[in-house]
Amino acid sequence: MRSATTPLDLLVPGPEHLPLDPAERRLAELYAASPGDGPSVRANFVSTVDGGAWGPDHRSGSIGDDADWRVFRVLRAAADVVLVGAGTARHEGYTALDRPRDLPGADRPLELALVTRSGRVPQQLADGDRPPLVLTGEAGAATARRMVPADRVVAVASAHDPDEVDLRAGLAALAERGLPGVLCEGGPTLLAAMLADDLVDELCVTTSPCLVGPGPSRIVAASPAGAPGEEPRPAGIPASPPTPARLAHLLHAPGSGTLLARWLLR
Ligand SMILES: NC(=O)c1ccc[n+]([C@@H]2O[C@H](COP(=O)([O-])OP(=O)(O)OC[C@H]3O[C@@H](n4cnc5c(N)ncnc54)[C@H](OP(=O)(O)O)[C@@H]3O)[C@@H](O)[C@H]2O)c1
Repeated sequence: MRSATTPLDLLVPGPEHLPLDPAERRLAELYAASPGDGPSVRANFVSTVDGGAWGPDHRSGSIGDDADWRVFRVLRAAADVVLVGAGTARHEGYTALDRPRDLPGADRPLELALVTRSGRVPQQLADGDRPPLVLTGEAGAATARRMVPADRVVAVASAHDPDEVDLRAGLAALAERGLPGVLCEGGPTLLAAMLADDLVDELCVTTSPCLVGPGPSRIVAASPAGAPGEEPRPAGIPASPPTPARLAHLLHAPGSGTLLARWLLR
């Protein structure tokens, strides 16, 4: 039974204004990673007000704005490795990554790790002089080794299907390579799998002040078939009860109305 007794804080307009700062010191403090052992995974996504994960060009950039970009750069500056699904790398044209040059720590390399079942590394990444790390299963590893040097292929096959990727093992392998701080930039298929395996510590979500109508996926893709062994259930019904999320902060861009939230899932 619900009751109407939850206190509410009015966050917007908030009590603190963040002036423009080329070094983004205050934003970096706000998004500082929570200290802990082992891999820490932060996902960063943008969504329209009506829940769309991309715009008419099938890219997320067309629903993001300058406010989103400001936080996007700070999160990249804080990460050891950016993790993306192969679909995002293909649609968004990912190439080897550099940290934002004007933010602290810019001289540290920023690794890109690609998750792919097929092992098909997008050509622009395979051809580049800094190929990504490729997290994949057995069959995918054979394909990926034809596209990138073998030491960039991390075969982390799942126990129940050797061609599937064991994402938890993939994160452990990244941590073993000195890359414990993971920033997952997409896409919806990868985020769905990461959440299903309870691997995401926090979710940064920009709500973009626009609607795109039906068509695009949400930031968490629907599973077309459900998990192996799962009982069939009516379409549109979640497999599990809601996961609680705790708001760490909410930023508001007064010009555009864009909202930027940091949600902690632990
Ligand atoms: N709104 C946002 O913040 C945001 C962020 C990122 C992307 N996007 C948009 O999302 C769209 C792409 O969506 P998407 O769901 O296709 O992206 P995605 O998750 O990046 O790509 C899906 C592909 O990645 C690989 N993959 C993902 N999860 C996997 C897993 N658990 N195991 C093995 N392989 C896995 C597979 O690649 P293989 O086919 O090679 O096996 C799969 O086909 C684009 O339009 C992009 O612009 C939006």
